[in-house]
Amino acid sequence: MLLSVAPADAEAPPSMSTLPDIPAPDPERQALARGLLQTPAHISAKYFYDQRGCELFEDITRLPEYYPTRTEKALLQARGGDIARSVGPCTSLIELGAGNCEKVRLLLAALQPQCFVGVDIAGPFVQAAVDGVAREFPGLEVCAVEADITAPVTLPAHIGERGRLVFYPGSSIGNFDPDQSMTLLRQMRALAGEGGGLLIGIDLPKDLQVLEAAYNDAAGVTAEFNRNALAHVNQCLGSDFDAAQWEHVAFFNAAHSRIEMHLQARAEQQVRWPGGARAFAQGERIHTENSYKYPLPLFLQMLTQAGFKACKAWTDSRDWFAVIHAKT
Ligand code: AVI
Repeated sequence: MLLSVAPADAEAPPSMSTLPDIPAPDPERQALARGLLQTPAHISAKYFYDQRGCELFEDITRLPEYYPTRTEKALLQARGGDIARSVGPCTSLIELGAGNCEKVRLLLAALQPQCFVGVDIAGPFVQAAVDGVAREFPGLEVCAVEADITAPVTLPAHIGERGRLVFYPGSSIGNFDPDQSMTLLRQMRALAGEGGGLLIGIDLPKDLQVLEAAYNDAAGVTAEFNRNALAHVNQCLGSDFDAAQWEHVAFFNAAHSRIEMHLQARAEQQVRWPGGARAFAQGERIHTENSYKYPLPLFLQMLTQAGFKACKAWTDSRDWFAVIHAKT
């Protein structure tokens, strides 16, 4: 779970439509309220990932329309040997946003690191996953680190500075805006250190139908995932969103080369939270996520700009997804 702020007093008077004056405001709640009060309203995509949201995301990765996960896994499996040759000796393999550590399992045999470090904001979840990796790979040193990967990550002192490979799969970099992505790439470079590297997965631009179907699955799982963010926001902000009143909208914005997800009000409504409120007209939207699809040459340029030197990329036969190894 990303955030666990107790629901605030439901009796608090609703009324204001400017940034509320909440006593001793929690910065997370303030940021949430600020986003909701903007036009168009927006909430951070991190609110997808409460317990239910993590489960729904796992379901998404198995949907027939959602190609990224299975394409990346197939690439890692097929190209493990080539990746290992490009990486060379690897002392510590550090996965950012490790979650259930599913993808790293596909690399461990090929890379043969001494140590695996799983970093995730969900501490107990990643600890359990890392323990599972240790059982499967006896002799491998493991370590779980609870950290928000959007800030510089500090590893325990016993993780050596040499031979680090930072692993950031899943095209999660696409959920950040280009400026934030550059900051993240620079932080990853610093974490990898001199003589280290980054192994990163990115989703590539492709046929519009394929892209849009991946975010508008027939079973409605992505729609539920999108609406679930409102339940999480209610929990964090003490707001009274009725998720059933919001329709899932996802489309490819070609000008920005990104999938956008929004929630669209089915009817006019008022949403209240302690110290604030916002009226939504029918059809008004809340922007919930961007998922950038970078052309490979552009992403390689970004890596160079972030200070990486040599880059090697592997793509699937349809050029839908790329796994890139960038040296520091
Ligand atoms: C986690 N991230 C890479 C997913 C994506 O494809 O942007 C999140 C997601 N949103 C809707 N479906 C999946």
